[in-house]
Amino acid sequence: MLDYQAILEDIHNTLKSTEDTGDVASYIPELAKVSKDSFGIHLQLITGEDYSAGDYLEKFSIQSISKVFSLAKAFQLVGNSLLERVDVEPSGNPFNHLSLLELENGIPRNPLINAGAIVIADILLTHLENPKEDFLNFVRELAHDESIDYNETIAESEHETGFNNYAAANLLKSFGNLHNEVEDVLDFYFHQCSIMMSCRQLTNAFFVFTNKGKCLKNVEHLTASQVKRINAIMLTCGFYDEAGEFAFEVGLPGKSGVGGGIVALLPHCFTIATWSPALNPQGNSYLGMKALELFTSKTKLSIF
Ligand code: DON
Repeated sequence: MLDYQAILEDIHNTLKSTEDTGDVASYIPELAKVSKDSFGIHLQLITGEDYSAGDYLEKFSIQSISKVFSLAKAFQLVGNSLLERVDVEPSGNPFNHLSLLELENGIPRNPLINAGAIVIADILLTHLENPKEDFLNFVRELAHDESIDYNETIAESEHETGFNNYAAANLLKSFGNLHNEVEDVLDFYFHQCSIMMSCRQLTNAFFVFTNKGKCLKNVEHLTASQVKRINAIMLTCGFYDEAGEFAFEVGLPGKSGVGGGIVALLPHCFTIATWSPALNPQGNSYLGMKALELFTSKTKLSIF
């Protein structure tokens, strides 16, 4: 039996002394206020035992990690028909890249780049009665935690500087692939990205993707086939133009956010979340990537 607690502490100690850890995201001004020194890691086994180190209880802005929750909710609501409006191919480009979107007639490469997540947000806006409230309740339900909430200051901060996302939404609209108003879709999207969660809350919520669609309380939220697809999209697209590198170094499906969080999982085995706000040039947590690479190397647990 592996000593998971010792492994997480060892990873934490090794990474504490790393000097060049990248920079926090500053294009969303509120995110630039977060301390670069925070580091948390939390592991939850499918059997329920959990292990942790560092700031694993501190909440941070989940940003693009929320795209996995919105994709899951859209799958629940409209099933495979969402694939008529968004593809499932890796983009090989940064998360906010727009040229492929124009070239490919307004069909985003996948639901995890910004343009794809904006289409998913549009689908949720159409199908949810009270979109922001219902979506938040979905995330709370998955995590079994009513304390999870939006951060209005971060949502507003992104709204003020979100010119690139406005460009994406307008381009989608011009191709007929946005059915609601640009302003309404982006308001929803900026809110979903602002959700605050800790590493522990993230592993609780992502349990559903580790456990074939059943959450911690054994309630079925997604079919096994939908979970297979979501995990495949995380593996191939979860880290944008670094998805290959993440598969190569870590070997797990996962998702990052510019708040510095990463969640990854080994189906039927474990869910793991890390948080370290400084990012590498691709917008993924510098130390989070390293922590997960160390974890799968030390435990020899990966999908490969
Ligand atoms: O739309 C944006 O740019 C941000 N709200 C989310 C980007 C993000 O987290 C990319 N992931 N690493």
